[in-house]
Amino acid sequence: MGSSGGARHEKVTKEEFTRQSRAMQEAKIFTDADVINRISAAVLRNGRMIKILDVGCGPGILTVALAPLVDEVVALDLTPEMIAQAKKRSDWLGLKNVRFEVGQAEELPFTDGYFDVVVTRLMLHHLLSPTSAIEEMARVTRKGGLLVVADIVTSKKQVEAELHNALEILRDPSHVRVLIELELEGLLNSEKLKVVSKEGWVNEREFREWIRITNAPEREEPLLLVMKALAEAGLTAGVNLRVEGDKVKFDHRWILVTAEKVS
Ligand SMILES: C[S@@+](CC[C@H](N)C(=O)[O-])C[C@H]1O[C@@H](n2cnc3c(N)ncnc32)[C@H](O)[C@@H]1O
Repeated sequence: MGSSGGARHEKVTKEEFTRQSRAMQEAKIFTDADVINRISAAVLRNGRMIKILDVGCGPGILTVALAPLVDEVVALDLTPEMIAQAKKRSDWLGLKNVRFEVGQAEELPFTDGYFDVVVTRLMLHHLLSPTSAIEEMARVTRKGGLLVVADIVTSKKQVEAELHNALEILRDPSHVRVLIELELEGLLNSEKLKVVSKEGWVNEREFREWIRITNAPEREEPLLLVMKALAEAGLTAGVNLRVEGDKVKFDHRWILVTAEKVS
């Protein structure tokens, strides 16, 4: 991230995730066992004796779930406070095979081909260049190893995607852009990578649960007004935005893509 835009984005991201680091610990969306099981199965696809890297590990919820299943985990995040929380979680569980690094997905401090599997969850949409991060993740994966990416995706319709992304940015200014499914899959189908499996699911979100993870109460009421007004006007933002009783709800569509490093 050399440019001033990059430096500004990095600062915003670190501030945002320092604030979110505690609230994220308990959030259902991060602790959801079904999602963790799906990712674990993808990570173990080629067997158990593995070294894995969790990029953008946040407070280490996925990291500590994967650690007992593999030989070695390295957990990396841009935000030092996230790494502190992840380390605390790992120490509390007495895990001995987890190593922590503060660093950037776009410039990973590891040698080529060091890892058997590189995994990332809910990080790509915070990056100015998801392409650079995927290239870096592919670089540090060994030939025959796997890259496992789980993230939310957005509508193919541009107007809906723009509205969806605008709402996400109003909630969390470190959000850059949710990709559409084909774009995300395209990033993982290149000269070096070949998609070997893909699955998707829909996760219902409720406004208060979603906004409270940001730990920024000043954003809550203005954004609720906007989303309620949009829903009442029939503008679904490609996420089935709706009012149900006294709640505002919408759906996040996830995909989990596994790619093999072929060269
Ligand atoms: C929404 S959280 C997801 C945390 C974790 N992957 C999980 O699913 O439980 C996104 C994380 O990505 C990290 N992040 C954002 N940009 C990053 C970058 N360029 N390099 C590394 N980590 C980054 C943030 O600090 C934050 O901890």
